[in-house]
Amino acid sequence: MNVAFASAIPASTQIVAHIVTEGSLPEGLESTLVHGAKAARFKGKTGQVFDGFAERNGEVVRIALVGSGETGDEGRGANLEQAGAALAARYATSGADTIAIEAGTLSVDEVAAVLTGLRLRTWRYDRYRTTIKDDQKVTLANASVIGAGEGAQDAWTEASAVAEGIEFTRELVTEPANVIYPESFVQRCRERYQGTGLEITVLGVEEMTELGMGALLGVGQGSEQPSRLLAVKWNGGEQAGRPMAFVGKGVTFDTGGISIKPGPGMGDMKWDMGGAGAVAGAMLALARRKAKANVVGVMGLVENMPDGKAMRPGDVLTTMSGQTVEVLNTDAEGRLVLCDALTWVQKEHDPVAIIDLATLTGAMLISLGFEQGGMFSNDDTLADALFAAGRASGDKLWRMPLGAAYDKLIDSPIADMQNIGPREAGSITAAQFLQRFIDKGRPWAHCDIAGMVWAAKPGATWGKGATGYGVRLIDRYVRDVLEA
Ligand code: BES
Ligand code: MN
Ligand code: ZN
Repeated sequence: MNVAFASAIPASTQIVAHIVTEGSLPEGLESTLVHGAKAARFKGKTGQVFDGFAERNGEVVRIALVGSGETGDEGRGANLEQAGAALAARYATSGADTIAIEAGTLSVDEVAAVLTGLRLRTWRYDRYRTTIKDDQKVTLANASVIGAGEGAQDAWTEASAVAEGIEFTRELVTEPANVIYPESFVQRCRERYQGTGLEITVLGVEEMTELGMGALLGVGQGSEQPSRLLAVKWNGGEQAGRPMAFVGKGVTFDTGGISIKPGPGMGDMKWDMGGAGAVAGAMLALARRKAKANVVGVMGLVENMPDGKAMRPGDVLTTMSGQTVEVLNTDAEGRLVLCDALTWVQKEHDPVAIIDLATLTGAMLISLGFEQGGMFSNDDTLADALFAAGRASGDKLWRMPLGAAYDKLIDSPIADMQNIGPREAGSITAAQFLQRFIDKGRPWAHCDIAGMVWAAKPGATWGKGATGYGVRLIDRYVRDVLEA
């Protein structure tokens, strides 16, 4: 999306859009539009669109009214993104290539939010489609904002960094597992991070063996694709200041292993790397907007396959922490990948706090569906800040409990713990497992985002498919907590 800021509507414009606060149409609107909007019961609810025409300066122009909800809403930014996205959904393939957006009374950050939604909703990944028809192609490519305040360009440059991160996450999540596997995930990041100042560290199988990462390696040992640990560092804060850590589950395909999953729907497990995808995209966003913070992103990258070499149910693995795990179900692999990544980041970087993101349990879909991720934390301050970042960014989270009674459920008769508990509270016992690898006193939050990475139907700023969930959440947390 090419974006320009102007004081008057360029002659080439095919659509003029007004952003409408719920219940109040913009002043000076033609009476045909006022009547039309009323007849269509257009109120200005978030994402609602009224499509009309008006004669302006002797020419008929297409006018869009798009709702952005109420101004006092806690998720105001997210609502404005949704308004921009609604415009994109309506006009992306309309044949029009240029839209003008009247800034009206919007602040420069609010304008940037509208543009973000517009850009994100026109995103598609058509790399493998060789026969798209012309009328399915995105035509909308230019937006000009009319009458935005001073600093609008800077606000947009900043917001574009985040949009770029989200798009990168979507790309990684959308790619099939024959294209994105541990090594190629690393390669794709290397290419995308060029010139950003991000520092990349990659551990291969030999190095991880040396470090004793028996759990992460146990998951990957049934695959032809060698496992990787990818760490990406952004040093935008005080020199030598301890970093904040984000850790992502990067299972590039999850067959379940020997505890194999049923066939129907298994293809979904190409996006079992959505946590790592979010971290990869967020690191790009932070670097692109030169965030004033020290952050390390760690991604545990493995493929979970059934094979003669694969780990078996009943196997006991020794983790990097020294703790042992009885693998009762090879499909509960995400926690095995994360536990070694968590130990590594604590030993290597001594982070001020850790937030991990993972498509960890199907049980999460049963608890919270596709609306919010589950959050588990050992620290109320961290949990509250993360919760607030979720509300403000639109990447919502809901806090779930941890506790000793749940922890007991993963004790093993042969090892320090087993990798599954009973069927009940499956998301919580998974979180308890991770907590056993967090150093005492270290603030940590785990986000189970199993329901958020992929959408079966179009949503706020995405079409069907990869949502890019997590990038805005991380970005918002970094802004409001680390950069504040
Ligand atoms: N990647 C899955 C969780 C998942 C399921 C994510 C559906 C998104 C949609 C995870 O590795 C898994 O298989 N978890 C098991 C754990 C069980 C064996 C304790 C699950 O949830 O069934
Ligand atoms: Mn699994
Ligand atoms: Zn998995």
